[in-house]
Amino acid sequence: MSEKREISRRTFLNYALMGTGGFLAAGMITPMIRFAVDPLLKASAGGDKVAVGSVDEFGPEPKRVEFKVHTKDGWYESDSVLSAWVTKNDKGEILALSPICKHLGCTVNWNDNPDYPNEYYCPCHGGRYNINGQQYIGTPPTKPLDEYETEVKDGKLYLGKIKPNPRPGVSE
Ligand code: FES
Repeated sequence: MSEKREISRRTFLNYALMGTGGFLAAGMITPMIRFAVDPLLKASAGGDKVAVGSVDEFGPEPKRVEFKVHTKDGWYESDSVLSAWVTKNDKGEILALSPICKHLGCTVNWNDNPDYPNEYYCPCHGGRYNINGQQYIGTPPTKPLDEYETEVKDGKLYLGKIKPNPRPGVSE
């Protein structure tokens, strides 16, 4: 025959207090934890593309566009202004280049130096790129200008993330 184990009043009260205290603590801590990690659980809007104008505005001559992007990284949200040099060739293919020089990060401009017409020129150390963003071998940059993902929808051009430009460097 099994022996019946009795719980003292003190033990019962201890259990009851621990259970109630644990329940109340969980009720207070859970919203705090959720508040703290919530931004990490939400999907980032970083993959969105931004409209930069009608596709008809662009042609074989590079045109500079500026656009605002909203980025969210965990708890940190910010708006930044980016720019791109956009061309559309005679086949209707669009190329949107980042203006950030691949040498040390200065900003390049199109057709800005009379000594190097119809090129992207970096004033910091004389970096040079052709219209497709390919660096001229022998100038400081060792990579072509990055390009933006592009999409044309309802006659508008949208730019997305920056990606590496696969074109090789060129000789003069
Ligand atoms: S930063 Fe452009 S050439 Fe050096």
